[in-house]
Amino acid sequence: MAKKRIGILTSGGDCPGLNATIRGVAKACFERMGEDSIEIVGIQNGYYGLINNIARDMNPMEFSGILTQGGTILGTKRQPFKMMSVIEEDNVDKVKAMKDTYKKQKLDCLLTLGGNGTHKTANLLSEEGLNVIGLPKTIDNDIFGTDVTFGFHTAVDTATDVIDKLHTTAASHSRILLVEIMGNKAGWLTLYAGIAGGADIIVIPEIPYDPQKIIEAVNRRTKSGKSFSIIAVAEGAYDINEAQLKKKERAKRRAEAGITTATSVLAAEVQKATGIEARVCVPGHMLRGGSPSAYDRILATKFGVRAASLIEKGIYGMSVAMVDGTITENKLSDIAGKTKFVTPDCQLVQTARKLGVSFGD
Ligand code: F6P
Repeated sequence: MAKKRIGILTSGGDCPGLNATIRGVAKACFERMGEDSIEIVGIQNGYYGLINNIARDMNPMEFSGILTQGGTILGTKRQPFKMMSVIEEDNVDKVKAMKDTYKKQKLDCLLTLGGNGTHKTANLLSEEGLNVIGLPKTIDNDIFGTDVTFGFHTAVDTATDVIDKLHTTAASHSRILLVEIMGNKAGWLTLYAGIAGGADIIVIPEIPYDPQKIIEAVNRRTKSGKSFSIIAVAEGAYDINEAQLKKKERAKRRAEAGITTATSVLAAEVQKATGIEARVCVPGHMLRGGSPSAYDRILATKFGVRAASLIEKGIYGMSVAMVDGTITENKLSDIAGKTKFVTPDCQLVQTARKLGVSFGD
């Protein structure tokens, strides 16, 4: 019987759990179909490697010892979906090049581990006739059609640890500490870490904030004898005035003002109005680093094993998912191009509100 050749790539921002997923797929494929019937081709640096045919056959030993390893052994790169079908200065037809690599590498299928952009390109390749399976990765947890993405819970743990540490210093100095948490479009990470870390104010893109409401929330704390406040701000948060603007106009105005995120502006506003010193902490890429948590190791393993069973059955054009706690899959065409946002009236937001957490609205 001809060997099955499985291409794997990791694309977009890295996160903990990529290696655990790669391991899960590989081990389950070897286990279910036999090591002699499977060849795994590692494609380097995401779709860039697929476009440029940078790929190599991997030794089964390479999938051992990587469960706990952060980052990705395959390397990754951002390759924006909107440019995939555009021929740029280098004159390369990227879609054709990816299909050519698939053929040259004699792949039977391609696994793409990534976030929303990765899934859009995965769907495009599926529509072009390639056998593609997506695996949902991102610390942002914003992939449509899955309860959770791998990498998210590790990032929640890391961000929570940051907030815990900020608490002791904020309390000692009677300061307001604003922590800027990754998440450009969706506020899941800020919401979860904010609640887990006991932030007093949580600011997310899905709930545009009124600086005055945040100032009032801090003043309420001061009145009740609390000398410090912790404000968790999502990287992509914006205020009620910016909410009136189209995304491009918002970006333009921020560029003109020399700011990228709202956090430092908010810090200055709150400091001025309350008279309490406000400082900003940006953990940034630390949130994407480190070893996956136990939760993410298990999730990544479950996702990987599900992908292996899809390969065994020859079911393609899918993205593995968790729906209502059960591992399943969605059609790529049903989820590509959609984002899972926090709904402002969801149970978690309501829970936080009942505790007295302000969302600045
Ligand atoms: O997509 C995950 C993410 O970490 C976002 O939360 C963040 O906005 C973005 O990646 C940062 O990307 P980069 O590392 O390319 O700056």
